[in-house]
Order: sequence, then C-alpha cells, then structure tokens
Amino acid sequence: MASARDEMLRGVRGMAGRTLRLEDAIPKENAIVLGTLADLHARLPQLAANLKEDAFLLKTVGSAIVVTAVNDRGVLYGVFALLRKIALGESIEHLNEQQTPRAAIRWVNQWDNLDGSIERGYGGQSIFWDNGRARADLSRVSEYGRLLASLGINGCAINNVNADRRILLSDFSPQIAAIAAALRPWGVRTVVSIDFGSPKSIGGLDTFDPLDPRVAAWWKAKMDELYAAVPDLAGVVMKADSEGRVGPSAYGRTHADAANVVARALQPHGGLILYRGFVYDHHMDWNNPKNDRARAAYDNFVSSDGKFDPNVVIQIKNGPIAFQVREPASPLLGALKKTRQAIELQITQEYMGQGRALVFLVPQWKETLDFQMGDGRVSGFLDAFAGVANVGLDENWFGNPMSQVNLYGYGRLAWNPDLSARQIAGEWTALTFGSSETIVRLLLSSWRTYENYTGPLGLQTLTDIVGNHYGVAVEASERNGWGQWHRADEKGVGMDRTVETGTGYIGQYRPAVARIFQANCPDDLLLFFHHVPYGYRLHSGKTVIQTIYDLHYEGAEAVEGYVREWKTLEGRVDEQRYTQVLHQLEYQAGQAQVWRDAVTNWFFRTSNIADEKHRVGNYPGRVEAEAMTLSGYEAVAVTPWETASGGKAVECHHAQGCSASFYFEGEPGWHTIRVQYFDQSNGAARYQVFVGAQRVDEWRADDRLPTKRLDGTSSARRTISGIALRKGDEIRIDGTPDQGETAAFDYVEIR
Ligand code: GCU
Repeated sequence: MASARDEMLRGVRGMAGRTLRLEDAIPKENAIVLGTLADLHARLPQLAANLKEDAFLLKTVGSAIVVTAVNDRGVLYGVFALLRKIALGESIEHLNEQQTPRAAIRWVNQWDNLDGSIERGYGGQSIFWDNGRARADLSRVSEYGRLLASLGINGCAINNVNADRRILLSDFSPQIAAIAAALRPWGVRTVVSIDFGSPKSIGGLDTFDPLDPRVAAWWKAKMDELYAAVPDLAGVVMKADSEGRVGPSAYGRTHADAANVVARALQPHGGLILYRGFVYDHHMDWNNPKNDRARAAYDNFVSSDGKFDPNVVIQIKNGPIAFQVREPASPLLGALKKTRQAIELQITQEYMGQGRALVFLVPQWKETLDFQMGDGRVSGFLDAFAGVANVGLDENWFGNPMSQVNLYGYGRLAWNPDLSARQIAGEWTALTFGSSETIVRLLLSSWRTYENYTGPLGLQTLTDIVGNHYGVAVEASERNGWGQWHRADEKGVGMDRTVETGTGYIGQYRPAVARIFQANCPDDLLLFFHHVPYGYRLHSGKTVIQTIYDLHYEGAEAVEGYVREWKTLEGRVDEQRYTQVLHQLEYQAGQAQVWRDAVTNWFFRTSNIADEKHRVGNYPGRVEAEAMTLSGYEAVAVTPWETASGGKAVECHHAQGCSASFYFEGEPGWHTIRVQYFDQSNGAARYQVFVGAQRVDEWRADDRLPTKRLDGTSSARRTISGIALRKGDEIRIDGTPDQGETAAFDYVEIR
C-alpha cells in the first residue's frame, strides 16, 4: 500500500507538477482514495464490488476517484492503471472501470547466473547477482520491481533455469531473502530456479530418484527451510531432462514423478512449481528423417496429463523448437486437459537480434495467443504466463531503448491477451516518446522485416545455432543433434513433418489444424512443415527460391527505410535516445545486408537457380578487399563462406599496420563509401580511409559483438557519406590491428 501511495504522489507530481496532500480521512474536496475494499468498507459502504486477487476497480464516488482492490497489490495495479490513463490523455471523469487479469500467474524469468553473467542477456550484467552472492546494492532490483508492477507482473525468477545447485545451499537463503526484500514492496514475489539433482549434488544423498522417500523428505525439509527465509516465495521453476540437465529419466521415472515430489514440498507453503515443457534430446541422429525435435514437448508430456499435482504448472514455449523467428503454436498448448499450463514467451531477443535489432515481438506472440487450435484459442487454455526477460544493469535494461517495448508488451498481454499489437505499440510509444505514428509503424512491421532477412517461410532463424545465436550461418543447424534442421540440399528445402511421409509431427495437432498444415499450409510456415523443391509455387504464385531471394532484399531494404524514417524524428524524440536508436538502426541496416547476401548466396550456390532479378552475386560498386592492391594485408578464407563477400576477407598481422588500395572507376560526383569490416571482441583495431592523400574517416572497431572470429556476427558496416570522387582517385584503407583483432575487412562499396 505504501508503494501505491508513493507511486500516486510521484506520478501526479511528475505529470502535473503538483504534490497531492496526504490524509487518512476522506476529505470533502476532490480526492484520490486508495485502499482495499476491506479498508474502505466502513467509510464508503456504497462501494461494493466483486473482485478477484490482483483485480482493481477505478470508480468515481462523489468528488473522489477511488482505487480499490481486494489486496494491496491490486490497489498498486489500479494506481498504475490510473496513471497510465492520465499519461495517455484518457478521460478520468465518471470512472467505473474494473479490470481483472486473465491469468493469476504472471511471471518473468531471469536467466541470471550467480557470477553476475546472464545467459542470453544483452543488457549488461545481472541486477541480482555478483560474484556468487546477491549484489550489495540492490537498487536496480527495486526499480525492476517497480517496472514489473507497473505491468501487472507478480512473480520473478531470479536465477537461470540452468540452475546453479548452490541456490539451495542452506547458507545461501539470506541472499535470496535480500533480493526478495527488494521486490516485495512492489508485489513481485520471488521465484527460484532449482536443479532436480540437488538431493544428491548438495543434499548428501546417494540418489535424486523422485520416488525414493529420502528424496521426498529432503525436498520437504529444503522447502521448509527456504520458506523460513522467504515466507512469500511464489515457488520454483525447474528444467529437467533437457539440454544436459538431469531429470527423472535417470531413474526411469516420469515428469509427473519429478514435478510432484517438489510440488508436495511446496504445497504446505502455497508454493507453485513451474515445470518446463522444454524437454528434448539434443543428441538426435540427424540422418534419420523420422527424428524431430519439434515432437518432443508433446510426446514427453501428453501421456502424463492428469498425473500432475494441482500446484504444478507446465511451462510451454510458444513454439515447438525455441524462440525462432517464426514457429507454429506448440501443439502441447491446450493438449493437456487436466493439467495447468503456462505459455513461455521470450522477451530477450535471443534469436531476434539480441538487443541490436528493432523487433517488436507482440505481433508474434499474438499469433500464438490468438491461434485457433481447433478446440479453442490458445489464450483460453492458459493459467499462467512466463516471460524470459533477462534485463541487465544497462541504463535501458536491454542494451537498446526500443527493446523495452517487448517487456511492456509482455506485461500487457499477460494481463489481457486480447489487447491488440497496435494498441500496445501505441500505448508504449505514447508513454515513452509521446504519440508518433512513425514509431508505431516501425514497431508493427519490425518482426516481419526481421523474419524476411533472417529466416522466412518457416526456415527458422538461420543463425549460428551451435554458437552465439546471433549472426548468420545457414548450415549451422544441419548435421548436428540439436534438431533445428531445415534440410536444405541441392534439390529442395524444408523439413517434412507430415504424417504420411515425414516425422508425423503434424499429427500432434487437433485434426482441423492438422488438415490445414498438411494440405493448405500458409506460406509463412511452409518450410517448417514440408520439404519442397525450389521451384515449388507458393500461394503467392512465386517459387520458393525466388521468394527467398525477394524477401531477403525486401527485409534489408526495409531496415534502410527505418533509418530514413527514424531521421524524420530528429528534434521530436529526446536527443539521447534519438541518437542511440539511430545508431542501432544504422548498425542493423548493415547486418541486414550481411544476412541478405549470405542467405541468398548460400541458396544460389546450393540450388544453382539464379535470381530472376539478377541481384544475387551482382554487387554494383563493390570492390573485394582481396582484389585490392595489398600491402601487408593477407587474403583469408572466411568460415562459413557465405558470411563474407566472395568467401574471403583480408587480415593484417603486422603491429605497425597494413593497407589496401584501389582506383575509383565510377562516375565523378558525390558518393557514399561503405567499408564492410570485422569487429571482433578481442581488441579494438583502428581503420583509416583515404582518398588520395586526404583522410576522410577513421574509427575503432570497439563494439561488444559476441565473437572472436571473422564471420556474420563480427561483420559490420561503416558508412562515409558525402565524399567527392573523380575517376582514377586512389582509395586506401589503412588498418592497425589491436591484440587479437586483425583490422580485417571484406569489401568496399561505393554508391
Ligand atoms: C534455449 C537457449 C538456452 C536456454 C534454453 C532453455 O535453448 O538457447 O540458453 O537454456 O533455451 O529455455 O532452457
């Protein structure tokens, strides 16, 4: 309640410049009255409402606006809703609005490691942990709690699902308690991720068999101990039998056995276990055409339906693989008729540009939430929402101010999955920058744009899936056990998941949906479900191969358009964020071109079918580094080959530097010079560009890109515009290596 009161004061102060007077009694003047129904009953007996936990009522009573709920948290949510209305310029006269969250469990998961790093986190180090302990200064945790509360989030898992067993050590609970204390004022309850092997790995038992009574007793004692330290702990998240985590299979037990043994220990404390449905074998034989990772969640859980305790919730990813740029809705959603289920959505943009790309994910999530499974819409099946957020210490939480829109959107959808993507984009934009149709337009098209250049037609994100999940690497998903296969070869592309000839995955859907995916598959998902020849014609009438080419060019062109559109906002968006977002978009435009060229060249070489529009393999104005006159620089082959133009780049191994030069052959006039260089993480090489004797640009490759290698992740673009060139001008790149970074570059393009 104190947070609700303070937030009301702070909000009105911030927006109207007035400090409301605090009183305990209800005054005669205009007032905003905050309290639970029980608090207010004596004074406002006419205020009758039937409210659930966390729901709130905003109501005009006489000259007062009353914000009420059954619990404190609901009042806090009501305050935030009222402030949002004011900020959005909505009327607050004659209020009578009751809002109830659709799902009672609205959590975020943070994949933070106890050492302070974050698995798949792109906004800096952990706000929770440092060097094996809770951070001494937890002020960012409080701020995060406030942010989450403003969105109606009521639980936060504070450590990685790939759980460190130390989290359950007896002397560790004060660390958890310290974090819980920072979240508590905001109604955000703490959740911990736990390791199923703990009874053995830290508990001193010789087993973690869930049916062994000693193991059950251990879990019970452990949970009693944890709740003694954090009495309002919301529960636990557990990942078992997945990606190297131990699980019930070690003893031939079921997931129900595993979930229930922990659930029974939590039950007396009112705690929940969110048991992850993300279970699959990552050592699958890829030569077997019947093998299919997409089948795993359904195959693993459907047979246990009805066997889970009531405080178990199965946490199911939106799609059957893991957060790819496009996937169908997981067939497990709604298939469990007697088991509670959560949808897991990923806010952190693991496969979506990692805080370096503008991708508004709400349209993607909406597609799943609104999906008709045949026996109902997905959103109607859900008891819970879990969003993998992974915010970090960076000032903007995610490494990019625009990425916050996804946290905002997640919270709003967890509260009300029927909100539209447009409404959410409009709200966030108005609250963040002031209304702007331009920004809303960019947001709403951004997922499609990203998909177009990274993995259209259901190919999934064609990234380095065995490495950083960031840059392009078309073949990384093939010939390994991870099962993100797209099965592209010289004749065709796509994964046959049909019942008749393929893996049978389509048969996991209810019949009406299976029929559509089988016989009339939407183009967007075609290659997820079917293996087709490159000449196969889509609903659009175009062939698959030409569509792959066209969409990559459209996607890359769209990002160039974002840069132009963003520039129209100069002076209308605060300068700091204007500049940050402009840099991000310019960088993304360069990346989109890397993806475009890599994917189109890869498919061209593999299919041997040319682009009808003659773009693939033809790059007007491009001069390959390896074709320049080199002094000190040496040509090297880049792996994978498609991530460098012509498969090659040049590198410098001389501390004093190297140079590469060529003569300009184009028409005289004002030109833009683009240098495609490599920005590895192991140094900050220096580049200088000369036209004749005049230096026209210099920079250091000092970004924090996640690779030490020359590849699609490190490939970056420097744009030097407004350069007067005459035929015959010598253009020279001087590169000076730094530590392991070799001042490498790929080509220069002059427009
Ligand atoms: C993905 C992700 C992992 C994560 C896993 C999970 O595979 O890359 O980092 O641990 O999902 O959701 O458990």
